Amino acid sequence: MILVTGGAGYIGSHANKELNLAGYETVVLDNMSYGHEDFLKWGVFEEVDLGDLESIRNVFRKYEIEAVMHFAAFTYVGESVEDPQKYYLNNLRNTLNLLQVMNEFKVKKLVFSSTCATYGNPQKIPLTEDHPQDPINPYGQGKLMVEKVLKDYSSAYGLRYVSLRYFNAAGADPECEVGERHDPETHLIPLILDAAMGKREDIKIFGTDYPTPDGTCIRDYIHVTDLADAHIKALKYLESGGSSEVFNLGNGNGFSVREVIEEARKVTGKEIKSTETDRRPGDPPVLVGSSQKARNILKWQPQCDDLTKIISTAWEWHKKDN
Ligand code: UFG
Repeated sequence: MILVTGGAGYIGSHANKELNLAGYETVVLDNMSYGHEDFLKWGVFEEVDLGDLESIRNVFRKYEIEAVMHFAAFTYVGESVEDPQKYYLNNLRNTLNLLQVMNEFKVKKLVFSSTCATYGNPQKIPLTEDHPQDPINPYGQGKLMVEKVLKDYSSAYGLRYVSLRYFNAAGADPECEVGERHDPETHLIPLILDAAMGKREDIKIFGTDYPTPDGTCIRDYIHVTDLADAHIKALKYLESGGSSEVFNLGNGNGFSVREVIEEARKVTGKEIKSTETDRRPGDPPVLVGSSQKARNILKWQPQCDDLTKIISTAWEWHKKDN
């Protein structure tokens, strides 16, 4: 069976669905701090906190775990600056716990959710995997620390892992069985869609004086189902004997905040009021990644790779979920 930590969350639930569709049996592990009960539609569920070593061991005793996909993590960049301990305990220490138990039970395959936030401020665009990693917030630091731990554990204990550095995960399952639901919501696309639904008055544009063509930040939005598919390909890569690797996952296309809002107006047919405000601290002007390595080695090919499709699936889900 495949252990999916954080499988009741946004990306974990989409990956859990795809794993089951691909014929894998899964055990979802989640402490439900941010997870959603109605996302637990596939596999078996164990409510466990990764802070509790003995409970993790019990899961490994109960099921024959062949490989782990580790999604469970806190992901609010701003909060990680205000309360770094919360992030290092959950994202770093609890990952060490998981790795310890994997080691005890001789489970040697791991797919890890890393992030483009490990790069910090880009020196060149598009970002490739060999770009220097110098995170500018504790969220990115913690993820980078895990990447370093994985490297050492791989050399010492024969762990084989794939670290996937996501760019901006967006969109929802086209069948609307799961989707994006955060509380609090801070991400651009769902907030725009809240404005489209009249749930908020407007969307704030954080900064219009960036060194970009329209002055707003540019991001590489990647569909969550394409991310899920990359996890399955990463698992198959490990199953076929692949050695430890790191891959960027993005579309390689950047869209500015204004472009995303404009596209959402077209998709939803709603006016969507926008208001220009100050920059949000810690936002790099441009984050766009090259995923050539994942395309070459994992044979990964994003299917939902244009912004219209990404926003359309997010909109369908958003209407259903509100
Ligand atoms: N933005 C706005 N208004 C909003 C919300 C966001 O203008 O109300 C802007 C942000 O300033 C940014 C862009 O929209 O330029 C995207 O912001 P998101 O919050 O949606 O995403 P981020 O790029 O900040 O963060 C994402 C993931 C993180 C990950 C990070 C890597 O959500 O988990 O990419 O940098 F760490």
